[in-house]
Amino acid sequence: MSFDLLLRGANLPDGRTGIDIGISDGRIAAVEPGIEAEAGREIDVTGRLVSSPFIDPHFHMDATLSLGLPRLNRSGTLLEGIALWGELKPRLTHEAVVARALAYCDMAVAQGIGAIRSHVDICDDRLLAVDALLEVRQKVAPYLDLQLVAFPQDGLYRSPNAESNLLRALDKGVDVVGGIPHFERTMEDGARSVRRLCEIAAERGLPVDMHCDETDDPLSRHVETLTAETQRLGLGGRVAGSHLTSMHSMDNYYVSKLIPLMAESGIAAIPNPLINITIQGRHDSYPKRRGMTRVPELMAAGVPVAFGHDCVMDPWYSLGSGDMLEVAHMAVHVAQMTGIDAMRSCFASVTETSARILGLDGYGIAPGCHADLVVLQAADPMEAIRLKPTRLMVFRRGRLVAETPAKRTRLDLDGRPAEVELTFTPGSIQ
Ligand code: FE2
Repeated sequence: MSFDLLLRGANLPDGRTGIDIGISDGRIAAVEPGIEAEAGREIDVTGRLVSSPFIDPHFHMDATLSLGLPRLNRSGTLLEGIALWGELKPRLTHEAVVARALAYCDMAVAQGIGAIRSHVDICDDRLLAVDALLEVRQKVAPYLDLQLVAFPQDGLYRSPNAESNLLRALDKGVDVVGGIPHFERTMEDGARSVRRLCEIAAERGLPVDMHCDETDDPLSRHVETLTAETQRLGLGGRVAGSHLTSMHSMDNYYVSKLIPLMAESGIAAIPNPLINITIQGRHDSYPKRRGMTRVPELMAAGVPVAFGHDCVMDPWYSLGSGDMLEVAHMAVHVAQMTGIDAMRSCFASVTETSARILGLDGYGIAPGCHADLVVLQAADPMEAIRLKPTRLMVFRRGRLVAETPAKRTRLDLDGRPAEVELTFTPGSIQ
């Protein structure tokens, strides 16, 4: 037996340690301790967490890295962000959208991201951003999976031509049907948009991923319609509700009926912790609501939950670094998921659960899976969330596509020279 590449002594996210991973022809060929075989290249990763890549299930690549164009968001609110994006849209050029998207993809890969689902605004009759991101999807394919969602940012019915633009975008090869029911003129229009968009997805055999109820209004219940349509049209397993922030503010009795219906329908939830915690609750005095959807309750009911980054340096959010561990870190805090199992679930929400929701094939660390792996300067998922550590090596189909030296600090204190990492093994000092 011989491999192209052999990683020795890995810690895996499921808790196994000292595992060797053999890779051949871009696929994982063996995952077991103490493999005795030759390899073209052998790398010692003893004590390091080796994970499948991070998966960002919700992003806006047509807007990323546009911070300051044409001006900054003064209030930091969602509505000023949408207005600002409206000012920027007519000034976008194909070349600039492609260049910013590619620059972001470089950052994402360096941070160990292997796939991104990006919404793309189709409310511009030119479909300029659609064409640009279709080009980007093709360009990055060797190192990053990019899924595109046809997103009617200004409302399917509120914005002229949105429906025909959305259909044109799907005809051009956009992968997923999007929506924004809470932004339509009335609740009724919102519900009607959900029904129409789900029918389009059913007719075309496509997944659905809608911005749904991204509001503090507890009576924004489009998730109910989305769940019912998922059931009616048999779309379970390929529908996601993104944000779902109104669920934070809903009446508990109503939610006790809603969550089991969501679980039964096969719908998935995609909260965006960094954005939800900064955008929601803006009209509150004190106490201020957090605004993130009910993550532990959804997970407990069996609804798949993945966390998205949503924005990096754009009209809605000036921060962000393409780091899904920063996203998971915020989720752990906002949802108060600091228990051991809860933190493991949050790690899964930026890795395997997210991959499942996006329908990625060959994802995972098992024989036959794609050899897509990230080696982290941390021992386990909990430490990864704690430290948001250096991504030492990123492999795509067995090829090393990004490498960053380990972060170490040289200390000289009281004449005791030492070199330290921030990693720490619990219980190692008694
Ligand atoms: Fe979004």
